[in-house]
Amino acid sequence: MSVVALCSAKRSPGVSTLTCALGAVWPAGRQVYVAECDPSGGDLAVRFGLNPRRGMTSLILARRQRGEGVIELSPHLQPLPGGLEVLVGPMGPDAATALDQELAKLPESLFPLEADTIVDCGRVLPSAAGQRTVLERADKILVLASADSSCLAHARWALERMGTVVGRPDATGLVLTGEKQFSANEVSETLGVEIYGNIPHDPRGAAAACGVPSRAGAFARSSLIAAARGIVHRILPPDASDVGVRDSQRRDARAPSPAAKGHSRRQRRADVEPLTDIQSSDEAPPRLVSHEPSGLDGARSPGSGRESMEVRGK
Ligand SMILES: Nc1ncnc2c1ncn2[C@@H]1O[C@H](COP(=O)(O)OP(=O)(O)O)[C@@H](O)[C@H]1O
Ligand SMILES: [Mg+2]
Repeated sequence: MSVVALCSAKRSPGVSTLTCALGAVWPAGRQVYVAECDPSGGDLAVRFGLNPRRGMTSLILARRQRGEGVIELSPHLQPLPGGLEVLVGPMGPDAATALDQELAKLPESLFPLEADTIVDCGRVLPSAAGQRTVLERADKILVLASADSSCLAHARWALERMGTVVGRPDATGLVLTGEKQFSANEVSETLGVEIYGNIPHDPRGAAAACGVPSRAGAFARSSLIAAARGIVHRILPPDASDVGVRDSQRRDARAPSPAAKGHSRRQRRADVEPLTDIQSSDEAPPRLVSHEPSGLDGARSPGSGRESMEVRGK
């Protein structure tokens, strides 16, 4: 199983958004987790109303207390609506920096060998030793950048760093986002890097991947999700994506979340639209659907993640 690390060089090209989108369309036959290791601070807790203390921070504390030996992952995981399980990172830069320092001390990877992990490494920071450690141990590194001259200049720096400092030039690819000033071929030839995807400007799809309630069917049909599927097909071996739809996932995708109980009836109807349109297609439904409250609601209720886990039998 593999670790895929996503990062950027400058601005906010959509690393966290694509991390969730990739997890959402990861083949149903492979176990996958999203881990938030952004040394500048994470966004998942606020976006999805999760407990920021349950995730990377609790996992690293457990590792420290336990020393050597196997650590059970499930107490540290929280599900996004749709079933994608995440290791939430700390929100504040102080705590995120502290986590990064802990990650740098680990003698081996924290992530489970029996599953795939998609890691949001955030913006590449020369001072972030833990980020560097995660990148060094990743099987695939995707650098995200807008296809305009200034972003690509910064992307060049990040790509060079993946070669010289991280030592993984062959594992590194580029994903283009935003408005495209240059074609993928031009960028690939100029920077000497493989382009793994071309993410369209898709505000609605991106908002859904960031926890804004939307119709599940619309998210599944979004151009963001189509692009994410293309990237997954590129980074996994061909047979790995040839998997069917798991029943448990269908149930997860349909079930209203505990938090959805507080929604108005009209909101609930819109949010938990059955995925009939997807089920009749060849593709598995995304592991992420958006029908949780997000933003400040989530920030005000740090216990909401725990409730979700209990309901899901974790
Ligand atoms: N493909 C996209 N099209 C439109 N907006 C996007 C796209 N990807 C991300 N966004 C938006 O850009 C903002 C930053 O995205 P985020 O993933 O948090 O960036 P990063 O993690 O690189 O800082 C969010 O509001 C998100 O909804
Ligand atoms: Mg981010």
